Amino acid sequence: MSNPSLLILAGDGIGPEVMDEVKRIITWFGDNRDLAFDVSEDLVGGVAYDKHGTPLTDETMAKAQAVDAVLLGAVGGPKYDALDFSVKPERGLLRLRKEMDLFANLRPAQCFDALADFSSLKKDIVAGLDIMIVRELTSGVYFGEPRGIHMENNMRVGINTQRYTEAEIERVARAAFDLARKRSKKLCSMEKANVMESGILWRDVVTEVHEADYQDIALSHMYADNGAMQLVRAPKQFDVILTDNLFGDILSDCAAMLTGSLGMLPSASLGVPMANGRPKAMYEPVHGSAPDIAGQGKANPIACILSFAMALRYSFDQGAEADRLEAAIEKVLADGARTADLMGPEDGTPLSTVQMGDVILAALDASL
Ligand code: IPM
Ligand code: MG
Repeated sequence: MSNPSLLILAGDGIGPEVMDEVKRIITWFGDNRDLAFDVSEDLVGGVAYDKHGTPLTDETMAKAQAVDAVLLGAVGGPKYDALDFSVKPERGLLRLRKEMDLFANLRPAQCFDALADFSSLKKDIVAGLDIMIVRELTSGVYFGEPRGIHMENNMRVGINTQRYTEAEIERVARAAFDLARKRSKKLCSMEKANVMESGILWRDVVTEVHEADYQDIALSHMYADNGAMQLVRAPKQFDVILTDNLFGDILSDCAAMLTGSLGMLPSASLGVPMANGRPKAMYEPVHGSAPDIAGQGKANPIACILSFAMALRYSFDQGAEADRLEAAIEKVLADGARTADLMGPEDGTPLSTVQMGDVILAALDASL
C-alpha cells in the first residue's frame, strides 16, 4: 500500500517558518512510528501571485484535490494590500475551501494549564477550557451573490449577501452534532435570528436535525452577539459551538485569544468523504501570516504543529499518535518552553521557532 499523501502549502509571512517545524515532525513520525507520508509542496497566496500572477494556479488546485490532506501555513501581507480583490492572497485560500467543499471548520480552543496565567482573562475563568467551534466554511456572506461595489444614484454601494440553503445548514449541523456526541453531548448554535431571515432558517434547521436524529445532545441557541459576550464572561459554559461562516470567523478569534495566544490554535476543515473513505481535508493554524514578525524566527510553530495532530486524528485515524504529539507539546509548555508570543517583556529570552521545534522533537523522542 502506498503512503498517504500530503500537500504542503506554506504560503506567506510566518507560514514557511512554522511549516518547516511541521516538516521535521512529519519526518519524525516516518522515522519512528512507521507512519510515512508522501509529501509534496506548492505555492499559495502572495508567493503564488509573485510567481504566477494568481494566488492559486489550476495545477495547484488540482493537486490539492488529489491528495489525502492539505497542510496550509498562512496567506497575505501588506505587500499585497493594493492588489485587485480578485487576486488577493486570501482568494487562494477561499478557492481551496470552496472547490474542495470543506464545509465544516473545526476550531478547538483549549487552554493549556501552563498558559492559563497568560490569558488576558482571569486564570480561573480559562483554566481547563476546552471548547470546539464548528464554523460553516463554504457559504454565507463569504460567497453569497450578488456581491460587489457598484454605482447607484452617483454613489458607490458595496454589497454582500448572506445566503444559506437548508442543505448547507443541515450538513454542518450534523457534523457538529456528531462531534458533540464524542465530547460532552452539549451544543450551542449561534446566529442572529432576531434580525436576519437566514438566522431564522439556521435556527429552524438546527432544531429539526436535532429532533430527528440527535435528541441525546443538549441543544441551546444563542444570538451571536450574546455568544461573544458569554465567551469572555464564562467560556466554560460551552462545549461545541455551531455557527456560520462570518460569525465563526469572529467568534473563533475571540475564543482563541482566551487561551493566551493565537499562536496556539489549530484548525481542521473537512468535506465529504473521498473514494478512499477519508474526508476531503485541509489543516491550518488559526493565526494569520503575522507580517510584523515574519522571517525573524520568532513565530510560535505550535498552532501549525497541532494542525498536523488534527490531520493525524481526522484524516488518518491515528488518534493515539495525535495524542502523543499533543502530549509532547503539553510537556514542553509545562517545562517552561515559550516563544515570544507566550511571554511578557520581562520574562527572559524566548525560544526561536526552530528551538521550539527542537524541544518538541526531544519530547517526542522521550515518549518512545
Ligand atoms: C480565517 C481567516 C480567513 C477568513 C481570511 C484569511 C480569509 O481570517 O481563516 O479565520 O476570514 O476566513
Ligand atoms: Mg479569521
